[in-house]
Formats: sequence, C-alpha cells, structure tokens
Amino acid sequence: MQAVLIHETGSPDVLHYEEADRPEPGDGQVLIRVHAASVNPTDWKARRGLSETPLPAVLGKDISGTVELSRADGFAEGDDVFGYVVGGGYAEFAIASTDTIAKKPAGLSHEQAAAIPLAGMTAWQALFDRGGLERGQTALIAGAAGGVGHFAVQFAKLAGGRVIGTGSSRNRDFVLGLGADEYVDYTEQDVGQAVSAVDVAFDTVGGDTTQSLVPILRDGGILVTIANAPPEEAARARGVRAELLVMGPSSEQLARIAELVAGGEVRVEISQVLPLTEVQQAHQLSESGHTRGKIVLTV
Ligand SMILES: NC(=O)c1ccc[n+]([C@@H]2O[C@H](COP(=O)([O-])OP(=O)(O)OC[C@H]3O[C@@H](n4cnc5c(N)ncnc54)[C@H](OP(=O)(O)O)[C@@H]3O)[C@@H](O)[C@H]2O)c1
Repeated sequence: MQAVLIHETGSPDVLHYEEADRPEPGDGQVLIRVHAASVNPTDWKARRGLSETPLPAVLGKDISGTVELSRADGFAEGDDVFGYVVGGGYAEFAIASTDTIAKKPAGLSHEQAAAIPLAGMTAWQALFDRGGLERGQTALIAGAAGGVGHFAVQFAKLAGGRVIGTGSSRNRDFVLGLGADEYVDYTEQDVGQAVSAVDVAFDTVGGDTTQSLVPILRDGGILVTIANAPPEEAARARGVRAELLVMGPSSEQLARIAELVAGGEVRVEISQVLPLTEVQQAHQLSESGHTRGKIVLTV
C-alpha cells in the first residue's frame, strides 16, 4: 500500500509518501480502506520526536473509510466506519479495534467523519466526563476555534451551558456563529480581567493560558487542561481543581457525536482538505497553531 512514513524525527521534510506493508488485523480488529484522515497536533508532535514513537512509523490517528476485512464481531466487509486507529492512519489501509470505531452515518462525508474522533471525543470527555458541566453552568473554552475547541463550544451549548470562547480577532464571528454567548479576543483583552465565576474552564491552548484560567473560576470550579501540566498548587490555593485530561477512545461517544453531526446539531469545520501526498503542507499549517477547525487529508 501507499502510506506516509517517518524514518526519523524532525521537520515536515521527514514525512515520505511511499510503499509500505499493509497492516494485518488481529482478533477483534478490522482492516479499513482509508478514504480520509485528519491531522491533529499529536501527529506533528510525534513527528518532531516529542512523544515516544517507534520508527519507522505511519502517523495519524483519525480516519474514515470502509471495512476491507473484519476479524471482529459487529463489523463486516463493506461497512463504512470512522474512528481512532492502532498504528497509523495516513495510509491506504489502517487497522482499528472495534471499541475505538463506530459506523459512519450515511449523512456524513468521509472528510467530516475523519475530522471527528480525537478532537470530538476530547472535547466531550473534558466537558462532561471530567468537567461535569451541567445545564445552566458557564463554560469557558480557551482555543474555541481550534479542532477540539470548536466541538467543545457546540457541545457545551447543546448541554444548556452558557459558553464563552477565546481566540484571536479573526475567529470572533466564527466562534459566535457556533453558538458561543461571549467571545474574548486574546489579542485585545486578558481573559483573567474579562471573565469571572466560570464553572468549567477548558484549556486547549497550554503555555501561559493554563495558569491564567485559575482566577476566572468560581469557588469549587474546575479547570480541565489537555495541553499542559495542570497548575494544581495555584488551584488549591484558589479553592478550585485543575486536572489534565488524556483522551481515551470510546465507540459510544463516537457514535453519539456522529449522530449530532448527521442531525445538523453540530457542525464540523474543515478549513483545508489536501491529498495525502500534500501531508508536509498539512503539517506546516497545523503547526502554525492557528488552524480553524480541522485539516483533512484525502487518500
Ligand atoms: N490530552 C489529550 O488527550 C489531547 C487530545 C487532543 C488534543 N490535545 C492537545 O490540545 C491542543 C489543542 O488541540 P487542537 O487539535 O484543538 O489544536 P488546533 O486545532 O491546532 O488549535 C488551533 C487553535 O488554537 C487557537 N489559539 C492559539 N493560541 C491561542 C490563545 N493564546 N488563546 C486562544 N486560542 C488560541 C487558534 O485560534 P487563533 O488562530 O484565533 O489564535 C486556533 O484556532 C494541542 O496541544 C493538542 O496536542 C491533547
């Protein structure tokens, strides 16, 4: 099969589109013919050598495609599926366990479906499983226009929350258009000055942003970060909690999110669709840190 491999870590130049062995599904797994894969920051972090990745490696975690061979109950050859793969997704074929994929609703394109898994499940778990967001509460989403953030804004709104998003000037209308009630433009205002009494703050940005969200919480509120070490000491001193979430894939959550998208209640923003052969450009765009929604590769 054709796939994008890295044999060493480094700049986008280490990404090579080349011939690779087709992976073999084990018991409980399916082999998927990939139609679309999406790019996540974790992909370029692995490419840069910031996470432990045995080399050579096929990068990519999110795919949508068609089952080519099933060694698992509940999935048959020809089923359209999407989800989170074992090994790599930037390839003509990928393998996945059945607990990390779901059937793709007919109303979703492969591009839309491939954009969902990592970002969608992370947003869901941060707000509800970890943040415990309830109807009527206020959620602040730092990085509201990004892959994870744009799902989080919509999920929090659907759950009956009051939603405040943060981002730069160019994303104001986009984030308000997703349903956010308020927007804090970080190029003009310090979020710590602009906002207070937040029940759940969700940090997708990292850096100085993480710590800056501690003072905006109400007493007993929670900061969930996915992009930094949680500022536990500052949180304790302030009478709030700060926790790191590491996403764990769930086929039930995938199916639920896909239903919301298919039903028109959640929109998947895809800022760029590129062929797999243009993966180096896709990584450069993602690494800029200013992607709106998701970047998708077609295979
Ligand atoms: N722990 C986990 O399980 C987990 C899971 C998924 C992702 N992550 C991590 O979470 C982070 C976000 O992932 P992602 O896929 O959402 O990334 P992304 O799509 O690349 O996020 C880009 C967005 O961040 C916004 N942004 C940049 N600086 C900002 C700032 N100072 N304040 C507010 N917004 C800012 C940008 O908006 P502007 O252009 O307007 O600045 C842009 O829309 C990454 O570090 C990723 O590795 C962790």
